[in-house]
Amino acid sequence: MSDLSVNNKTIDTILVLDFGSQYTQLIARRVRELDVYSEILPWDIEEEKIIKLNPKGVILSGGPNSVTDSYTPRVPQVIFDLNIPLLGICYGMQTLAEQMGGHVISADKKEFGHAELEIVTDSLLFKNLNRKINVWMSHGDQVQDIPDEYELIALTSTAPIAAMQHKNLPIYAIQFHPEVTHTENGLLILKNFIFNICAACNDWKMDNLISSRIEDIKSKVGNNKVLLGLSGGVDSSVTAVLLHKAIGKNLTCVFVDNGLLRKGESDQVMQTFKENMNLNIIKSDNKDLFLRHLENIDDPEQKRKIIGRSFIDVFDAEAIKLKDINFLAQGTIYPDVIESSGSESNEARVIKSHHNVGGLPEEMELDLIEPLRDLFKDEVRRLGIELGIPKEMLDRHPFPGPGLGVRIIGEITKEKISILQQADNIFIEELIKAELYEKVSQAFAVLLPVKSVGVVGDERRYAEVIALRAVETVDFMTAKWAHLPYDFLEHVSNRIVNEIEGVSRVVYDISSKPPATIEWE
Ligand code: XMP
Repeated sequence: MSDLSVNNKTIDTILVLDFGSQYTQLIARRVRELDVYSEILPWDIEEEKIIKLNPKGVILSGGPNSVTDSYTPRVPQVIFDLNIPLLGICYGMQTLAEQMGGHVISADKKEFGHAELEIVTDSLLFKNLNRKINVWMSHGDQVQDIPDEYELIALTSTAPIAAMQHKNLPIYAIQFHPEVTHTENGLLILKNFIFNICAACNDWKMDNLISSRIEDIKSKVGNNKVLLGLSGGVDSSVTAVLLHKAIGKNLTCVFVDNGLLRKGESDQVMQTFKENMNLNIIKSDNKDLFLRHLENIDDPEQKRKIIGRSFIDVFDAEAIKLKDINFLAQGTIYPDVIESSGSESNEARVIKSHHNVGGLPEEMELDLIEPLRDLFKDEVRRLGIELGIPKEMLDRHPFPGPGLGVRIIGEITKEKISILQQADNIFIEELIKAELYEKVSQAFAVLLPVKSVGVVGDERRYAEVIALRAVETVDFMTAKWAHLPYDFLEHVSNRIVNEIEGVSRVVYDISSKPPATIEWE
């Protein structure tokens, strides 16, 4: 909030007024990237909150509505009364135009995609930009008549008023989205607004975020107790340490060891968070229970369901043993938030499936607390580093909730888990040694449900087959198999067959996604 201060100096804040755009969080994130604090508030927030925030400038987001309809959101008067710089983006531009006496029409067809923007008037907003830039459009309506006291600054072939500015006041409006990477030099436009127009100071750093989150948590939780399911993954780990800093022993973490984790992972989580960081953690060792529930099951979806259900049962049982818990914390991050009807509404809530608490008894009446809910993965990692979580834990590849359960194809046994853990560990160890680990997005071993003949010394042995999988991807929706060097693969394969008795053969998966998925099950 605006009372954020460093050495008693108030930090400059850019307010992002949310009209419901799918890009609102991205705008706030871009501002943070420029080391300026930003806060998102809904367009209909109480006036006092806006005044209290004392922003240096306001960005009006896009939104799914049409200003041509009655009763659609408008910029509240208090924003104009503040007399500070404004930047309207898409819907933000349209409502600004309408409210200032201009006219907005519904275009015949929605414009979605690239457009060439031609800058026709000098503007501080477009300082240091070429006269023509490629921008990203996503709108149905557009400004037809520019309000009095405003002038045109840029157009495209379909939008004759694609950007406008007030002739005397620092008010700007653009039809396109500077916050998405498809807009050429979009960050420069935001930079111009924030530094040249708002004259904001770039004195906001990750540790400011930590202190403000800690204050938020303290004021929300007070002296109450919080429960968190800690998986050892990046999001839950950062949530745990942040909460611990805020409320200390009033946080109880439950770490469920389902026996399907990577080699040594369970000890590593306890060592890092309990021994080194002194968090209050209950380790719930349920390896045998999970194995029992998975006996004779080979269908992947059934395995997932059993693992998920068993997790909930174990977590609930631990939670019920604890007294006076009022809050349930979750490591939900922004990409986890469900998109509802094309826009992320404030109400959109999703409970991470592997932390699903659907089973928690209703009488516990826990309030949800999600301190990372508006952050992107790389921001969460940066936060984790600032919080002192070891880099190796924060840079780890994603690991699926059902763990090795979906990497042992077919039925799961104790012996198979042990073989797979060893093979996976060798693969990962070698990737790190060869400085390839960070070059691939996800790498792991899979235990196949076939046996194959091999020769060891003079003896033939009929043993397990391990598949190695490594992919490169940005979003995990599509992925390319990683072209790891042959020498490297040979070395890993040799180590696996030589060091693990039950393995006779290693294969490398060269399928991309689609059509193959990243996991084998
Ligand atoms: P697929 O196999 O669908 O994987 O291409 C995409 C990403 O999702 C992860 N994954 C899962 N994560 N529970 C999870 O928490 C699951 O059941 C699950 N299945 C796949 C996978 O590891 C990859 O990062």
